[in-house]
Amino acid sequence: MRRIAKEFRAEMRAGLAGKKSSLKMLPAYIGAPTGDERGRCVALDLGGTNFRIALVDLKGGGRLGSKKTRAYAIPKKHVTGSGTSFFDYIARCLKCFMEEEGISQEDIRLGFTFSFPLQQTGIASGVLVKWTKAFRVSGVEGRDVVKMLQGALARQRMGVIKVSAIINDTIGAFAALRYRDARCDVGVIIGTGTNGCYFAQDAHGGRLINIEWGNYDKLPTTIYDKAVDRASNNRGEQTLEKMVSGMYLGQIVEMMVNDLVNNSLLFITPNNKRSYVRRFTSELISYIEEDTTKQLRNVGRVLDDLGVSNHSAKDRVILKYVCRTVSRRSARILVSVLSGVITTIDENLSRDHAVAIDGSLYEKHPAFSDNIRKGLKELFGSKASRIKIILTKDGSSEGAAVVAAITPS
Ligand code: BGC
Repeated sequence: MRRIAKEFRAEMRAGLAGKKSSLKMLPAYIGAPTGDERGRCVALDLGGTNFRIALVDLKGGGRLGSKKTRAYAIPKKHVTGSGTSFFDYIARCLKCFMEEEGISQEDIRLGFTFSFPLQQTGIASGVLVKWTKAFRVSGVEGRDVVKMLQGALARQRMGVIKVSAIINDTIGAFAALRYRDARCDVGVIIGTGTNGCYFAQDAHGGRLINIEWGNYDKLPTTIYDKAVDRASNNRGEQTLEKMVSGMYLGQIVEMMVNDLVNNSLLFITPNNKRSYVRRFTSELISYIEEDTTKQLRNVGRVLDDLGVSNHSAKDRVILKYVCRTVSRRSARILVSVLSGVITTIDENLSRDHAVAIDGSLYEKHPAFSDNIRKGLKELFGSKASRIKIILTKDGSSEGAAVVAAITPS
């Protein structure tokens, strides 16, 4: 972990200096919220499994008033279809939301969380560098996504609405927590994908950087990581993400399990018929690791559902062990890069740092937060208590509202 942290810091420096680096280090063009942001803002939140819209009422003084959120499934045809139909779908969802909530076009302040690498030139403009996760919408890479959304809004007769700000979800998590806690200087997402951002104070006030750590490529990989990469739709990219985030952990377990099966070390039947597992997800990892029953009942249920009929008690123990190994490695890689980030801001941990963290893996996995805590302790000893890891649920959308409220409309 120490070695990864050190190498990661060097990679961050290279990225900032414009040298060759797997870290994009993208500036966010906003300052840190003060907590005094006020007003009703609408947030669009795009980048995970669902597309979400939220109406957030900011009261100032770090307080939130009422909040209404709606999730919209993104039909598969849009995830891999054309940019125009994709943004038209987003605009139509917004139209429905506004009608349902009785929001008029004239008084809407709109923040847009777009959870992909964006090269920004200002607070309300950003060019998509590359799609990640399962997204493959055509004709969007290399284009300004705010312009594309504005075009769709105009087509839906909502041209008066102007996007106030576009941000990454890590920036959203950061802004949501910073709104109520001035110690927050790092934002982390660990869900379908993974990424981090940080705020570094400097002579000009400070700068907020979206690291895009999912693309970090200096980690030691296994044959299973290489197999996951080969099976992906973005080979050679997002190497860290493929070892750490929810979209891939299940696949790693699946590759390991099937390798054990191939070597006749698992699910051995009397007639030597091999049972392979398919479509193993990270939700199953959480479910299996939650299992503290002596008979490993959850594990047995999962195997039954996956069609593995002949599992022994030993098989169940092994499967749980594989899950634990994969999720623990994920947490420890996360700790390593996180500590690289924090020591970049404050080398000797001379003050408190609050890390806003959000994402389904962190929230739902039974041991993830514990593994992070333990890892930080190993690295920093008693000083680890200076690092507060704070679950910032819905941070990505709340943060977009906060940032929209900072931005003069
Ligand atoms: C994207 C990041 C995003 C992260 C978490 C990654 O795949 O590249 O921009 O922050 O997922 O959603």
